[in-house]
Amino acid sequence: MDHFLYRDGALYAEDVPVSEIAAAVGTPFYVYSTATLQRHFKLFDDALDWADHLVCFAMKSLSNQAVLKVLADAGAGMDVVSGGEYARAKAAGVPGDKIVFSGVGKTADEMRQALKGGIRQFNVESEPEMAVLDRVAQDLGMVAPITVRVNPDVDAKTHAKIATGRSEDKFGIPISRAREVYAHAAKLKGLKVIGIDVHIGSQLTDLAPFEQAYGKVAELTEQLRADGHEISRLDLGGGLGIPYARSNAAPPLPSDYGALIERTLGHLDCEIEIEPGRLISGNAGLMVSKVIYVKEGEDRKFLIIDAAMNDLIRPAMYEAWHDIVPVVEATPGDAPATYDIVGPVCESGDTFTKGRAMAKVGSDDLIAFRSAGAYGAVMSSEYNSRPLIPEVLVNGDQFAVIRARPTYEEMIARDTVPEWL
Ligand code: LLP
Repeated sequence: MDHFLYRDGALYAEDVPVSEIAAAVGTPFYVYSTATLQRHFKLFDDALDWADHLVCFAMKSLSNQAVLKVLADAGAGMDVVSGGEYARAKAAGVPGDKIVFSGVGKTADEMRQALKGGIRQFNVESEPEMAVLDRVAQDLGMVAPITVRVNPDVDAKTHAKIATGRSEDKFGIPISRAREVYAHAAKLKGLKVIGIDVHIGSQLTDLAPFEQAYGKVAELTEQLRADGHEISRLDLGGGLGIPYARSNAAPPLPSDYGALIERTLGHLDCEIEIEPGRLISGNAGLMVSKVIYVKEGEDRKFLIIDAAMNDLIRPAMYEAWHDIVPVVEATPGDAPATYDIVGPVCESGDTFTKGRAMAKVGSDDLIAFRSAGAYGAVMSSEYNSRPLIPEVLVNGDQFAVIRARPTYEEMIARDTVPEWL
């Protein structure tokens, strides 16, 4: 459920007409709903209320300071994957003991930054990383709390570019080698082993791969405890999918996911941590764009809009399907039209969808891409020197620009021309 609904034929973001935001900030733009963010966070939080737990928002999905503050105020921790994300989490007021550091290539500088600023735990992904973290922590006279990310060799049955739990993927250490790696970690004075981490992929629409992976984690927990390790925390990653298309069967609910975790891991009496991104932020955001031209092709109609692949890259990169709706609802009885919806960028890959049946629209009409809150703004770029598009946050009947569109002068001023030119 989200808070982008039609009232009297006009699309609203909570209590604000989307067209009013467009008039104030120009198009294209992203708009996020505070109530949807809060609601989705709470669904996960409630789903784990049977355990000592922390929901760490995977801020790679949406990392605007205002969004982080909404979630931090609701009680969320943060899952970060870079020094930049760590700095953003701290700047939004998230305490170090609610920040988890994930990622396959943490640098010594990033480790130092997090140790000095405070960290809940590092999810270590390899033996070389373990050695560097041990050295960095010892140099600082500190002990770094860690889990080891295990790769359970489970097929998450999602898009190949976002599956992470198969043996051919670059993530974690093979679960078959876990006991050996934990034995080694236990000998390192700069590290304290506290648990196990696993994350098998993103946009999972079925619970079966989670069940398989968590079953393996349960078994490993018992083995590692028998080996003498203290395993008191399980970080189970993110990955629960969202419905991108109305026609899609709805993916499992956070409550079903929480019940699965309780069933597979509840008996171990561990603190449970999860790292959802998409399910919290995805349906909390729209990307709104304006039609520039309707162009008649030989056998098709192109809707040329003012947003492009640099603003929302998911369709070009993952063949992702986003529901696209008019901001002014079609009058009942109006015949729908079929469009190839494309942006102005000079490559054919700048295509959002082909042969899409939707309400008939014309030049200057507004359209909205649903489910664009996750991996939308954060993956955008200024390709073709198109300024990063603004982000807007709505809360009830108020809205505010939370990242402004840069001017051309600001974009140009980021470059430096050497004086010897
Ligand atoms: N934890 C770890 C270690 C991750 O690598 C990820 C996502 C998450 C949590 C959050 O997963 P989520 O709950 O959002 O599925 N750009 C792609 C998605 C990349 C996901 C990367 N890792 C897309 O637009 O579909």
